[in-house]
Amino acid sequence: MAEATPLPPGPVVVIGASGMLGHAWCQLLTHQSIAFTALDLPDFDLLAESTWQANLPESRGVLINCAAYTDVDGAEADEPAANELNGHAVGRLARWCARRNTLLVHYSTDYVFNGAADHPYPIDAPTAPMGAYGRSKLMGEQQLVEAGGTHLLIRTSWLYAPWGKNFVRTMHELSCQRDELKVVDDQTGRPTSAEHLAAGSLDLIRAGKTGVYHLTDGGQCTWYELTCHIAQLNGSTCNVSPCTTADFPRPAPRPTYSVLDLSRTEAVIGAIPGWQERVAEVIGRL
Ligand SMILES: NC(=O)c1ccc[n+]([C@@H]2O[C@H](COP(=O)([O-])OP(=O)(O)OC[C@H]3O[C@@H](n4cnc5c(N)ncnc54)[C@H](OP(=O)(O)O)[C@@H]3O)[C@@H](O)[C@H]2O)c1
Repeated sequence: MAEATPLPPGPVVVIGASGMLGHAWCQLLTHQSIAFTALDLPDFDLLAESTWQANLPESRGVLINCAAYTDVDGAEADEPAANELNGHAVGRLARWCARRNTLLVHYSTDYVFNGAADHPYPIDAPTAPMGAYGRSKLMGEQQLVEAGGTHLLIRTSWLYAPWGKNFVRTMHELSCQRDELKVVDDQTGRPTSAEHLAAGSLDLIRAGKTGVYHLTDGGQCTWYELTCHIAQLNGSTCNVSPCTTADFPRPAPRPTYSVLDLSRTEAVIGAIPGWQERVAEVIGRL
């Protein structure tokens, strides 16, 4: 684990503070007694620069951007809206931060890759998004880098938390309510605890790291394997059975394999525990 060195000087701001990851960040900063400003709609709109002046500090600091267009299927129907928030707004924010020498911490996704690999994607693997959401997040990555400021770009996947809309909570509820569940078993990835993502991100910031990092839980699984684990943890008698992606057609294509290589991150924050124990931690709190 990185040593608890001070954060870069200046105010700390969390954008998208009411979302799943944003809430984890606010909780973490509160527990660590780090003063911060939490911003989200409707007072602060990343799409409306007119709301920035009143909310974002003019001085150098740390800006943590958790806001995004996260509706993967919705993005297929409205790619311009996804591009506006995940691409162009990120570029504008990155240029705003660069002018003030503010560290911009930003999140991206495993969906920037083609989802066809058979081993974890290194940080410099060629990007080739399969769908509109991935293209919009890649646009944000590119505009962030082009802005030329100091940034920490963290790609993650399959977020869950005891709050917000996420697969772990949904499957916990469904497996308690239903006798049978069919879950996709031909997509492999990595669940990520939003709370541990925030904590690991803070470790990277404290270690003075910039550039691209991957941060998820350890191990890998399919959605079916994840659901079996959840049902086992909550003691449900639900019969969970595997099915294929083709059985559940969705508007956006889904990656067959989207595990992110964590070696660069683990070299800084230490070995990352497997998803099983972190999911158990969350299920125990639901
Ligand atoms: N969830 C995943 O599985 C996953 C996987 C890989 C990467 N990521 C990335 O991780 C980051 C955090 O994701 P998340 O799941 O925590 O997202 P989330 O729960 O959808 O939260 C996003 C937050 O941003 C807010 N927001 C939306 N439009 C905004 C705007 N124009 N101005 C200011 N705030 C706005 C949302 O408010 P409203 O709710 O009112 O719209 C929401 O509070 C994102 O960059 C996402 O792309 C997520």
